[in-house]
Amino acid sequence: MSKTAVLEIEGKKYEFPLEVGSEKELAIDIKQLRGATNGVTTIDPGFKNTGSCKSAITFLDGEQGILRYRGYAIEDLAEKASFLEVSYLLIFGELPTKVQLDKFEQDIKDQSLVDEDVHKILDAFPKNAHPMGVLSSLTSALTAFNPKSVEYSSADDMYKAIVMLMGKFPVLVSWCMRKMKGLPLDFGDVDLGYEENFAMMMFKRPNKQYKASKVVLDALDKLLILHADHEQNCSTSTVRIVGSSHAGLFASISAGISALWGPLHGGANQAVIEMLEAIKNDGGDYEKYIAKAKDKNDPFRLMGFGHRVYKNFDPRAKIIKVAAEQVLNDLGIEDPVLDVAKGLSDVALNDEYFKSRNLYPNVDFYSGIIYRALGIPVEMFTVLFAMGRLPGWIAQWKEMRENKEPIGRPRQLYVGEPLRPYVSIENR
Ligand code: SDX
Repeated sequence: MSKTAVLEIEGKKYEFPLEVGSEKELAIDIKQLRGATNGVTTIDPGFKNTGSCKSAITFLDGEQGILRYRGYAIEDLAEKASFLEVSYLLIFGELPTKVQLDKFEQDIKDQSLVDEDVHKILDAFPKNAHPMGVLSSLTSALTAFNPKSVEYSSADDMYKAIVMLMGKFPVLVSWCMRKMKGLPLDFGDVDLGYEENFAMMMFKRPNKQYKASKVVLDALDKLLILHADHEQNCSTSTVRIVGSSHAGLFASISAGISALWGPLHGGANQAVIEMLEAIKNDGGDYEKYIAKAKDKNDPFRLMGFGHRVYKNFDPRAKIIKVAAEQVLNDLGIEDPVLDVAKGLSDVALNDEYFKSRNLYPNVDFYSGIIYRALGIPVEMFTVLFAMGRLPGWIAQWKEMRENKEPIGRPRQLYVGEPLRPYVSIENR
């Protein structure tokens, strides 16, 4: 029996199809709403109740704290897969065979050289430029150096743009950090694996051989996997809507980077560490900051807490919390900020204000502690988030284009002035 939803408007009933998802979620298909009701639309600021698309990439259950990429549990992937394997899974829908993964990696290596003139654009930025702005600009600039990457008359064209971005993006990410640290840029080494090459480009010093330790590689790999996709979040929705106008892949991802930059979104990982540092420097006075977070007259929010979808522990935060303790232990680092994080979350998780609003630590609450342990500057934390999210953005953009989705163009409810006559300036 087909499922429908009935809407009654001013005494008249309208039926709309009910779509059922793979996990038995229900969605009212309102594609015909405006036409059937002579112009009635919906209002949903922040799209908290609105599905923008059907997607087969990532499944979240915010109440249960479940996250799966293409049906695989995030806990399994973080533990057993590599970031490149997860990237392949997200983009192409299946875990790769060894032959498929090797070809994907080789195709990426073949496209990983960044044009020397992109270097000149980087040089033009002031040294203290925020690296998210630099990364967004350099990513968009890739279009100028690869104009054919914009139009996709075939699956091969799209594949080439994808491996080009997967190859060049890590180089640009490492350049952002190396510029901040005053280090010479590194173009990578195609003889290294994807993850090893990224670590080398990020951490190699010009005066010393570099060999990434297993601790560093495992920590980076896990963090990148945990950030790889998260269904229709703010930056992914940005990538999809920009791509829906048939702007190229690089321009769409550049827009996603800008959306991720915001402190309410990916920028929270930088804001968390700055907050924890402030609490540590304030004598570890959690109560003061918890009170500020609860005070409606105070714009301060507990960064790294709360989530649009998770009304339970963010499963990624659970994994990262364990990994943070392990990395600090393996590297023999005592970071008092981790103690502040643990103390703060213990107090908040037992406070009625946070409990009643289902506010729990999210992915950003602990990730910065690992980035710090790896010697990554705090301004680079969100850039690392973007590096992890790249395959998810690509997968979502590819799905949107392959599904031939229409250009995104939401409606509104106009609440402005009715028609009124123009008044010349002398009479105003
Ligand atoms: C990411 O969407 C994704 O999937 C994002 C992400 C991904 O992987 O792409 O998971 C990554 O962005 C994680 C979130 C990182 N942001 C932060 O940590 C910033 C701090 N958190 C918040 O600003 C907030 O929780 C949001 C933005 C994350 C979610 O906001 P919502 O869903 O719009 O919730 P809301 O603002 O309506 O808050 C509901 C209530 C409000 O109180 P009341 O008006 O009901 O009294 O909870 C309060 C809020 O004031 N609240 C907080 C709070 N978060 C929500 N109060 C204090 N501190 C907080 N952090």
